[in-house]
Amino acid sequence: MSEQIILDIAGVNKRFGGLQALSDVNVRITKGQIYGLIGPNGAGKTTFFNVMTGLYQPDSGRFELAGKPYSPSAPHEVAKAGIARTFQNIRLFGEMTALENVMVGRHVRTHQGLLGAVLHHKAAREEEAGIRKFAMALLDFVGIAKFAGRTARHLSYGDQRRLEIARALATEPQLLALDEPAAGMNATEKLGLRELLVKIKAEGKTILLIEHDVKLVMGLCDRITVLDYGKPIAEGMPAEVQNNPAVIEAYLGGSH
Ligand SMILES: Nc1ncnc2c1ncn2[C@@H]1O[C@H](COP(=O)(O)OP(=O)(O)OP(=O)(O)O)[C@@H](O)[C@H]1O
Ligand SMILES: [Mg+2]
Repeated sequence: MSEQIILDIAGVNKRFGGLQALSDVNVRITKGQIYGLIGPNGAGKTTFFNVMTGLYQPDSGRFELAGKPYSPSAPHEVAKAGIARTFQNIRLFGEMTALENVMVGRHVRTHQGLLGAVLHHKAAREEEAGIRKFAMALLDFVGIAKFAGRTARHLSYGDQRRLEIARALATEPQLLALDEPAAGMNATEKLGLRELLVKIKAEGKTILLIEHDVKLVMGLCDRITVLDYGKPIAEGMPAEVQNNPAVIEAYLGGSH
């Protein structure tokens, strides 16, 4: 059986005024892989996520998820199509509990939606109980079940990052896109994150990872694309990318 392509994005261009932030970017990810998107600050990594998830409109590009074209026109449509993401700057509901944050994430996949839950229909109530159970299981999976009732802003930084991942997983995405999940983590937290990503991969999920920690990226990823000034300058397995002179010049060899 041939490998299934989960994400196939081609020919993406995005301009901000005079700045070509993305220049003919292609990314093709096989199901079950951890795929790295790396490059210097300002290379266009987050912009690629923003375009892919419908936050920014691309100037051009073709977008396919699990063999089906999708239009990255609005974030909730992209979530429904099967992509979930986290943000470089954590975006949790700080005053809600950890459990509530995950439950909100889950509503993308449920019938009654938030309105039903608010109106407390019987079906909605039953669904709510199911969502609560599912959300608890996810908190357990990412290792923060004991903080289910804690408000998000009172969690440690590393645990907030885990909570963001749990919330993203709540939509049961085909692709989990993580924008610098290890940023600001200490060495122990990074090891924990690494373990968590391996566990998510073992569940058969596909991960697209933006990350500056080269050791983490090279150790985790099956394949990597390197962006520089919005252009892909290399694509391949970690060892190939690491030894690519253009990559060393633009990213690995310098002050990083
Ligand atoms: N909304 C925007 N309006 C104008 N310019 C933007 C916008 N978003 C990003 N840019 C510019 O596009 C370029 C790419 O930025 P982007 O945030 O995608 O880089 P990045 O690779 O994620 O960098 P970092 O590693 O620092 O997060 C930068 O020059 C940035 O200033
Ligand atoms: Mg970024």
